[in-house]
Amino acid sequence: MIKSGLASALALVGLSACTPTESAAPAAPAAEATAPVEVAEVPVAEDPVARGQYLVSITGCNDCHTAMTPTGPDMAHALQGGPLPFAPLAEMPWAPVAPSIAGLPEGWTQAEFTAFLSGGARPSGVPVLPPMPHYAMSDADAAAVTAYVASLPRAE
Ligand code: HEC
Repeated sequence: MIKSGLASALALVGLSACTPTESAAPAAPAAEATAPVEVAEVPVAEDPVARGQYLVSITGCNDCHTAMTPTGPDMAHALQGGPLPFAPLAEMPWAPVAPSIAGLPEGWTQAEFTAFLSGGARPSGVPVLPPMPHYAMSDADAAAVTAYVASLPRAE
């Protein structure tokens, strides 16, 4: 009798110990649901050229496609190409010059440039050599980078 009384007391304790946890669980997502709504408002209104400029700044295109000076890439001639300021330590396929892409490469359409950054080939089909990275951007990111690059003055 004592034993079963203890057992049901323990069962009750167990039950009451579980109850707050179980009832708290459904409440948590409701509290979290308010936060992402506020965060999502920031990038939506951004225009593609500004977004593309930001993406270019974080993906490092200027480190290769803009002539290097002692204080960094010469941004007055952004993405107008130049010899790379570095070379590989091992023998490997290598393109020592990054071509101008400002205003888009000669003969490329915006759609071709976007497709290339989304993981596609050059319009000519000729594969690009290292150290040009292989990018697999989302269509939206590739289109934004294309809009920014197309807005830049071509090399003279
Ligand atoms: C680490 C250096 C490096 C970085 C970073 C880099 N590139 Fe390149 N890129 C090159 C080199 C070198 C070539 C030339 C490859 C060749 O001749 O085969 C090239 C070629 C290209 C081409 C082909 C141009 C043509 O006329 O055929 C495009 C387009 C291009 N890059 C766009 C970009 C963009 C956009 C970014 C940034 C999102 C970028 N690259 C980042 C080095 C780089």
